[in-house]
Amino acid sequence: MRSLISILDLTTEELDQLIETAKDIAAHPEKYWDRCAHKKLATLFFEPSTRTRLSFEAAMLELGGTVLGFSEASSSSASKGESVADTAKIVSCYADIMAMRHPREGAPYVASRAASIPVINAGDGGHNHPTQTLADLLTISRELGRLDNLTIGLCGDLKYGRTVHSLIEAMSRYQGIRFVLISPKELKLPGFVRYNVLEKHKIPYTEVTGLEAAMPQLDVLYMTRIQRERFDDPDEYDRLKDSYVLTAEKMKLAKKEMAVLHPLPRVNEISVKVDDDPRAAYFRQALNGKFMRMALILKLLEEAKANPVKEAVDTEGFVYDRVCRNPKCICQVEQELPQIFKVTDKAANIHRCIYCEQKD
Ligand code: NCD
Repeated sequence: MRSLISILDLTTEELDQLIETAKDIAAHPEKYWDRCAHKKLATLFFEPSTRTRLSFEAAMLELGGTVLGFSEASSSSASKGESVADTAKIVSCYADIMAMRHPREGAPYVASRAASIPVINAGDGGHNHPTQTLADLLTISRELGRLDNLTIGLCGDLKYGRTVHSLIEAMSRYQGIRFVLISPKELKLPGFVRYNVLEKHKIPYTEVTGLEAAMPQLDVLYMTRIQRERFDDPDEYDRLKDSYVLTAEKMKLAKKEMAVLHPLPRVNEISVKVDDDPRAAYFRQALNGKFMRMALILKLLEEAKANPVKEAVDTEGFVYDRVCRNPKCICQVEQELPQIFKVTDKAANIHRCIYCEQKD
């Protein structure tokens, strides 16, 4: 039995298979109408969501299954102090698969270790968002016909934007990928993606602060919202919130076949005047998210049926004598959760928390 906590839990072949299944679902939805009959998906959303939760629910309903769950922490026993691990054990009694969104980094991972059903990370703090990446991959594949040989511009909040982290991890697996990282200096890409992915695999990237100058070289422009809820200092958010606005004027600088993606919601970073541009793919991207979540639910439930036993945690490289200093890590609040780090770079003596991937 497997869960999806990080996009790196899936091999490139598995990503390609999910894309093929999702394309087949989009073309022949009736073939899939009862594939999950009598199965239940629990959606545990401790943080706001429109697209992710509703697309998960629509995905399960379109597979013939049913859904249960909650859409805010205040309506669950978390408000009484229940731990994520206990919640995951309880939900395992009532559902066949669960999708969890949580403001604390590493929470779905903790859930997956406690649960006896597959757990899908639907976004954990500013860390990861693998199912948004599934939507992004299908969108790039459908819009541009390929997932290799692309120059991908990522623009906005690269520090807290969890969708960016998971997308870079996934795209780094494909050939001929180059990234242009466009952000204010305060919102640059964090180390766990920069060092563990880009530097480690020698993926070419440049970091710039201006959007216009980068536009002409891009095949994909991935816009993101400045993540207000993750800022400790509201003044800093106010200063940075309008750093980038994609307008119809700026679109004139781009290639004719570029695709504009955005995980949504947008606040101010894409003018509505861009919506009618054929290169604006963000609403199609939201639909693609449903097809990819259908493909993922099918895959994880099939694997759970074939192999109901959970794989043992690979503890190689684990060390137990370090302390996580990330105030947003699940280990700061979950009672009795052991502090565990993993060696990620032996030569440089770098250890990262197994829950949130921050350095000690
Ligand atoms: C994203 C998220 O929640 O991280 N939204 C989504 O799931 N489509 C992006 C965002 O909130 O800015």
